[in-house]
Amino acid sequence: MHSSRRRSWRARLLRGAPLALAALLLSACASNAPQDVLDPDGPEARKLDNLINPVFIVAGVIFVLVYALVAFCVLKFRRRSEADVPKQVHGSTAAEIGWTIAPAVLMAVVGIFSVGAVLDLAEDPPGALEIAVVGHQWWWEYQYPAEGSVLNPRLVQRPIPEGEKPKPKVLAVDGDVVVTAGELHIPSQRPVKLYVTSVDVIHSFWPPRLAGKIDAVPGHLTQLNIKADKDDEGKTFLGQCAEFCGTSHANMRLKVMVHSAADFQKWLDNQKKPALKAAAGTDAAAGEALFVGGAGCAACHFIDSSKPNDDVHIGPNLAHVGLRTSFAGAMFPFDEANLRAWLHNPQDRKPGNKMILPVTLSEDQITQLVAYLKSLK
Ligand code: CUA
Repeated sequence: MHSSRRRSWRARLLRGAPLALAALLLSACASNAPQDVLDPDGPEARKLDNLINPVFIVAGVIFVLVYALVAFCVLKFRRRSEADVPKQVHGSTAAEIGWTIAPAVLMAVVGIFSVGAVLDLAEDPPGALEIAVVGHQWWWEYQYPAEGSVLNPRLVQRPIPEGEKPKPKVLAVDGDVVVTAGELHIPSQRPVKLYVTSVDVIHSFWPPRLAGKIDAVPGHLTQLNIKADKDDEGKTFLGQCAEFCGTSHANMRLKVMVHSAADFQKWLDNQKKPALKAAAGTDAAAGEALFVGGAGCAACHFIDSSKPNDDVHIGPNLAHVGLRTSFAGAMFPFDEANLRAWLHNPQDRKPGNKMILPVTLSEDQITQLVAYLKSLK
């Protein structure tokens, strides 16, 4: 009875183990999030990669040496009989000095290269394009200052009075700003300095192929430098919030899209323009009426790229959303089917998100709203 129970328990474990292992492995390779940290692109990510590889090799060699030594000792000095007693020694100055100095030297060498890389990555790149990155549960907002004006980081670092929420709006000073969400557009070959903050909880901005992680902390400003190569033009790099930030942390994705300098300028110029007015009598025009009226969308979403989020407008700025390739925190492809599913039940698609529909939308209303969103180019 006892042993058969133990056998079945063991059989279950044997059957379950490969399944558990597969689940662990597969959870690391979501097909809609290819973001390989070991496939760096751009100088900043390569600096990190140049550190990862030698450290991994050193650690690997030590791992093999230590475990080979353990195996050797286990076999060579195993107890051969009941009477077998190993030679008794007490202390060995030479051995103790050896195993203290060798790791210390190794750590110092690795440390010197690490500190060098950290300082190098923190340097202010000359001629950088500055962009503010603001974390929200669960999406990223991007603010591009207008030409001639710069972001003013000091304003964000001021102490925030008790009970007052941090206002990332003050990032953008000196005139206008271009606001977008989810997808960060950058020119190739130009250093980009990201000022990163958050309006709610701590997030972490992480485009693995372009740079390391940087925390987005409410009321503080952190900095991350990225730069894309010439041959990255036209490429999209995926990223992920890397700090647990609530229910939909895993659904807080991001995209970095690289353009030539000219194409980037074209994109930015278009972002500044007001959205094209939908032609009267079309589904899109009916959708616009719903957006600003009965469906309540305009209560939370701006359709004006010059407006950063505020305490009332807490949804992503949807100016020119029709040009984006994804929505809801770069989570879903921007297409008819996904937009319809989202407007049917946003909570179902992205649990915990802050979009609450004040009314249940009919199929016709959804058709009109989707037409309107797609027309925003
Ligand atoms: Cu934002 Cu995790």
